[in-house]
Formats: sequence, structure tokens, C-alpha cells
Amino acid sequence: MIEQELPRRWAKRVDRVAPFRVMEILTRAKQLESEGADIIHMEVGEPDFPTPKPIAEAAERALAAGKTHYTSALGLPELREKIADYYFSTYGVRVKRDQVVVTTGASGALLLAAALLVNPGDNLLMADPGYPCNRHFLQLVGGEAMMVPVDANNGYGLTPELLAKHWTPTSCGVLLASPANPTGGILSKQVLNDLGDVVRARQGWMIVDEIYHGLTYGSSVHTVLESCPDAIVINSFSKYFGMTGWRLGWMIVPEALVPGIEKLAQNYFISPPTVSQYAALAAFNPLAQQEMEERRLAFKARRDFLLPALRGLGFDIPHCPQGAFYLYANAQRFTENGYAFCYQLLEEAGVAVTPGIDFGCHRTQQMIRFAYTTSIDRLQIGVDRIEKFLSR
Ligand SMILES: Cc1ncc(COP(=O)(O)O)c(C=O)c1O
Repeated sequence: MIEQELPRRWAKRVDRVAPFRVMEILTRAKQLESEGADIIHMEVGEPDFPTPKPIAEAAERALAAGKTHYTSALGLPELREKIADYYFSTYGVRVKRDQVVVTTGASGALLLAAALLVNPGDNLLMADPGYPCNRHFLQLVGGEAMMVPVDANNGYGLTPELLAKHWTPTSCGVLLASPANPTGGILSKQVLNDLGDVVRARQGWMIVDEIYHGLTYGSSVHTVLESCPDAIVINSFSKYFGMTGWRLGWMIVPEALVPGIEKLAQNYFISPPTVSQYAALAAFNPLAQQEMEERRLAFKARRDFLLPALRGLGFDIPHCPQGAFYLYANAQRFTENGYAFCYQLLEEAGVAVTPGIDFGCHRTQQMIRFAYTTSIDRLQIGVDRIEKFLSR
């Protein structure tokens, strides 16, 4: 028998996926730490706070009771119920339990949405800059991201005019985030409504990632379901609920889509993580909610500290973010190459931040994202180090 050599190349799609640079920076930062360096972490988008105690205790109880088997692919009925109730108590919107699909993080929800709605060759419109992984979910199903440039002068938000202008015959919808990563921009109820009109007139899908809901500082935030009941909502326990590592999120979808999602979820995931679901049942109780409110206030205090401090150093931050936990800053006074700047800052000053090019192509070269996911004391040390670095 002639021995055939196995083709030792991975699939071509891997080459089309850009690296998630923030994770590269994090890896390097951890390496420096293991060599004894002290690093101020302003790169990674996850709350520094541990998961609220009532949630962790609920998980311990679930484990002790042996709740470690698969659940329904759509999630525990009682968790779906609690999520549906949350929409009524928070936004006054009635959502049926059957519209709620529990997922493996917002990431799982985004993947399911792409698989469910996007045919090969179709595109979804999205803001540039925006959350980088979105375009890769589309690539996986043979679709494409139609990146629409947005700027600080409209709060980095997609407008109905921009949406109409960039819509193509192969567009099948729009994927928005409010509050947005990396800009913290929030879309008003009116804008969500008007965007919904543009999408509906073209028989497209309106998908809104609301993962940073709950983390807003002054502006009121509206779920898209208030103005577009047929929209698809993506959300997660990762950010506001402080459960990044539990890998749990959800979607709200029109009931007609549920059988399709169920089929996909059964095949791709079997079920969302069981212990995490039992833990999340406690996420809506008053004690846990109180802890989350205290954290929201801590994030606001951090934003109010870091924004003027960075502006004082010469970073241009024209837009004061109203949500999430990021500042999207222009570093053009200091560099033409934000990516190189981030690495220098890490290596020479011990401050980890994320280069704007992670988030798209539109004027991202000199942009930097600062995450205020560490204490004010640590942020102060970071600011002092950046100041020293800039005056070297
Ligand atoms: C806008 C946005 N959507 C989705 C995700 C993925 O979140 P999850 O941890 O729920 O998968 C993130 C993570 O940073 C994000 O910023």
C-alpha cells in the first residue's frame, strides 16, 4: 500500500480570521507578570469583581445536589421564565418564556443567530469600529460583514441614513450593539425605532447586542424590543452580572424562529452549561441585584476618574461614553501606529491597553481602547506610568 501524506494544512477559513489582538496583549501581559513585572490591566473587557456571592452560592448548591446533567437545548424553563420576567420589570416589555433561548454566552448566541439567519453570500451591516468577533461569526457561515464607518460626532452610532445608504441587495439585516464596544455609545429609543423602520422596509433582520445593558451611567437605555418587538436580542450574564467565566447568555427571538434555533442549538451545543444556569437563577434576586448596582456605581466612578485623566495627558476622547466600561481614545498626538504604541506601553511602562485596529478599519490606526476594569488606585498608577512614558 502506498502511504499517502495527510494534508497538514488547516482550513482556509482560519487564515481569514484576524487575530483577537486584545488576547495577544493579555497573553504577553501575563508572561511579563510571570517574570515578576507589575502590569496595570486596562486591556481586557471583563469586570475585575468576582461573581456576586448569591450566584456563586446557588452554583455550590446545584453542584451539591448533583445538577450536572444536560438541560433542554433552549435552557432551563425556570431560567427562561426569570429572563422573560426581567424584561417586564426592567423595561415594561412583555416577553414570553418561549421566546427566550439560553445560550453559551453572547458568543454562542451570535453564532446561532448567524447560522440561523445568514445564507452564504449574504451580509449583515455593522458599525466600524465594533466588536471584532462579529465579522468572524459571519465568515463561518459563508456570510460577510458590511462594515459601516461611524464617527464620534454621532456618538459612534449607526444612523438610519447610513443604514439605508450601505444596504445592498445581499444585505439580510443589521447587527448593532448598544451600549457598544469599544466606544460605549448608546442608541436612543428613537434611533432604534428609526433603524428598525429601515430594516423592516427591506424585510431584513434587526439584531441588537445588549450585553452591556445595566452598565450605563446617566443615560437611560432601551431594549430594542420596546420599539421593534420582532427584533432579535443578544444578551449575556458575562458583563453586568459578572459571570464571564460561566459562559452563559441568552437571546430573545420571535417565536417563529424558536424551532430553527432549537435544532441548531441541539446539534452545536446540546445544552448551555447546567451549573451556570442554576447559578444564574439567583442573578435576579434582590441581594445579587444590589451587589450589581454597587458595581455599576464603581464603574461610573472609574469612568469619571479616567476620562479627565487621559484627556489631561493629551488623548483625544471627544465622546463621553454613557455605557459599558471602555474609553475609546485617539492617540494621534503620540503615534501614527496605535498597535506599536500599545506594545511599547506594555513593555516599557507595564500598562496593558488594546489597539484600535482590533475593532475595524475606519480610522482605527491611532485609536486605543482603555478598559476601566480595575480599581481607581490601579488606574491612578496606570495614568502616572503613561505620563512618564509619554514624557520620556
Ligand atoms: C459586544 C460584545 N458582544 C459579545 C461579547 C461576548 O460575550 P460573552 O462572554 O457573553 O460570550 C462581548 C465580549 O467582550 C462583547 O463585547
